[in-house]
Amino acid sequence: CYCCTALCLTVSHSSTLFSHLSRFKETTSWRFRNLTSVPEGLDVRLRELDLSNNVIRHINSQSLALPSLLRLDLSYNQLEIISEGAFRDVAQLQELNLARNALSHNVDSTSRALGSLHRLRRLDLSLNGLDDDAAGLYLRDKSILERLDLTGNGLTRLTPKLFAESLSVRSIRIENNLITAIEEGTFEPLKKLKILNLARNNLVNICDFKLHQVKLLNLSRNSIEFFVTREDGHPYELEILDLSFNNLLYFPMVPKTNRLRYLHLQSNMVGTLETDTLISEADSLYRELTSEDEVNDAVDNNNIYSNWKLMPLVYMDLSSNHFRSLPVETLSHLTSLVTLNLSKNCLQDISGNGHVGGYHQPSLTFPSLRYFDLQNNGLRQLSTFFLEALPNIETLNLKENSVRVSLNSMSPCVSFWNIKTLRSLDLQDNGIKTLHQNTFKGTPLISLNLASNVDIIFDIGALEGLQSSLQSLSISGNSMTTSALSLPCLKALRRLNMSNNSVDVLPGIISCSPLTELDLRNNGLTSMNESVVDRLSLYLDVLYVSGNSFNCCDTNWLKALNKEKVNIPDLHHAVCLSVNGTLLTVHISILYTTYLMCIYYILLVHVSML
Ligand SMILES: *[C@@H]1O[C@H](CO)[C@@H](O)[C@H](O)[C@H]1NC(C)=O
Ligand SMILES: *[C@@H]1O[C@H](CO)[C@@H](O)[C@H](O)[C@H]1NC(C)=O
Ligand SMILES: *[C@@H]1O[C@H](CO)[C@@H](O)[C@H](O)[C@H]1NC(C)=O
Ligand SMILES: *[C@@H]1O[C@H](CO)[C@@H](O)[C@H](O)[C@H]1NC(C)=O
Repeated sequence: CYCCTALCLTVSHSSTLFSHLSRFKETTSWRFRNLTSVPEGLDVRLRELDLSNNVIRHINSQSLALPSLLRLDLSYNQLEIISEGAFRDVAQLQELNLARNALSHNVDSTSRALGSLHRLRRLDLSLNGLDDDAAGLYLRDKSILERLDLTGNGLTRLTPKLFAESLSVRSIRIENNLITAIEEGTFEPLKKLKILNLARNNLVNICDFKLHQVKLLNLSRNSIEFFVTREDGHPYELEILDLSFNNLLYFPMVPKTNRLRYLHLQSNMVGTLETDTLISEADSLYRELTSEDEVNDAVDNNNIYSNWKLMPLVYMDLSSNHFRSLPVETLSHLTSLVTLNLSKNCLQDISGNGHVGGYHQPSLTFPSLRYFDLQNNGLRQLSTFFLEALPNIETLNLKENSVRVSLNSMSPCVSFWNIKTLRSLDLQDNGIKTLHQNTFKGTPLISLNLASNVDIIFDIGALEGLQSSLQSLSISGNSMTTSALSLPCLKALRRLNMSNNSVDVLPGIISCSPLTELDLRNNGLTSMNESVVDRLSLYLDVLYVSGNSFNCCDTNWLKALNKEKVNIPDLHHAVCLSVNGTLLTVHISILYTTYLMCIYYILLVHVSML
């Protein structure tokens, strides 16, 4: 609220008093006031008025005499009718928000009222239960309208009539309607249209995409099976295409000359067909739809996707599709791709495809790829040849696969040797049993996740080579004992997650590292070596300790941490056991101050046992 609340409530009907008492504000908000009508006596100089979230049902023809008003928010009311003439005296109005009202009633009157707003640049009519005809009437005579929102209405069929009087529109959002058809000529005349959001409708196929002017097209959450552009030789402005959550079997057939940078294809069915079949079926589909029997120059080598060579794509999300192998023939065209997401597919082996008789000729290369997400597939191997095809890879996510790590590039496993650009590697939950010596040699990782590889054993020297680069390491949830854990002196390590293991002695070597965060939850620690803790507490900001069974009478480590003001967020969950093993669990937080406390508790136990 911009004005004084009490004042607004008590003197809202006394316009003279109100304008005397309050300094003139260009903006005023009357949200959540239970208003049933537009308040009287509003300052005529007002430029912005927020009446949203009230219970106004009717705007009559006298209520708005605000000649300077530019922005009016009437969203979240119960408007059923706006009288003809209600907007006569707000002729300057540029932005009108009518979202979430009941403007499917009295369309004639309300549309005549809206008809007088010739300067409107933004109009929000979302959530009003409008059908095709009502929407058409409300959009009459809106020649300079730029932004339109019709989300959450009941539109079913878009025709050229709908936008015929709002030809300047730049951004249209019609999410969450019931649209099944878009007639040719509906969007084509809107030469300034840049953003078109048709997500959450019932569109089935895009047989001929013709909108050269559109930069962002959102078709997410429809039922689209294919997306075809008939090649006409003209350039398209398209930069972002969202086709996620549809039923695509084929990659979209995008125009040959485009500016496409972001392609969202997650949660479709691409990859159900083998790559060869996919390409030939897509080719014949294209010919069928465009009635071209001859392969023209738009379609070289019988491969509609050879167009992709010209596409400046940097981001492609193919997560949650059905790939069993990498679609090399199509992806190999994408030389500017930086981020590729193939998580949640059924990939098993990525062999690099050029591995014939040991003769190495990579047919796939991603010269720009930096982020590769392969989480949650069935990968066991990833050949060296393949990794060589990623000369700029920085982040590789292999979480939830069955990758076998090896040193030998010829064995059917994955070797992480000498990947000079790799900074972040996620191997969580891969069932890795042994981490051999020198596994990551020559690969200057900053972040390594080895969590949830139950019973993994680190050979001596397993993390060799990471001493001066590694900053973040997780070995959480590995059931590791102290002896299975062979760590070198990691001089750059800032975050270490050792939670959910069976470590009973804090390894002294970790005091080599300038750790700021250490997670020791759920282990078998009874105490912690004081000199190790002393050194750690120099850098440590946060330490987690709950879920261990500390000894109540050996808590000097806690004093040391307390002295250095290390934050232990879970201290109130931490418990200790009394010295003779009696199961007295005490909240350690009340104990650490004095040793006397400890003695007291032991006595208490003995007394209570007698
Ligand atoms: C497309 O619309 C959906 C649904 O509203 C939204 O979640 C998604 O972020 C949008 N995509 C883009 C690229 O803006
Ligand atoms: C890849 O997609 C998954 C699932 O949609 C998502 O959780 C993950 O954050 C994405 N990865 C990247 C690098 O965007
Ligand atoms: C350590 O890893 C566990 C399991 O992945 C996670 O729940 C926990 O939040 C991590 N600790 C920190 C401090 O991030
Ligand atoms: C604590 O650690 C230091 C150095 O790591 C070692 O010399 C000392 O023996 C340890 N103390 C105990 C009680 O284990």
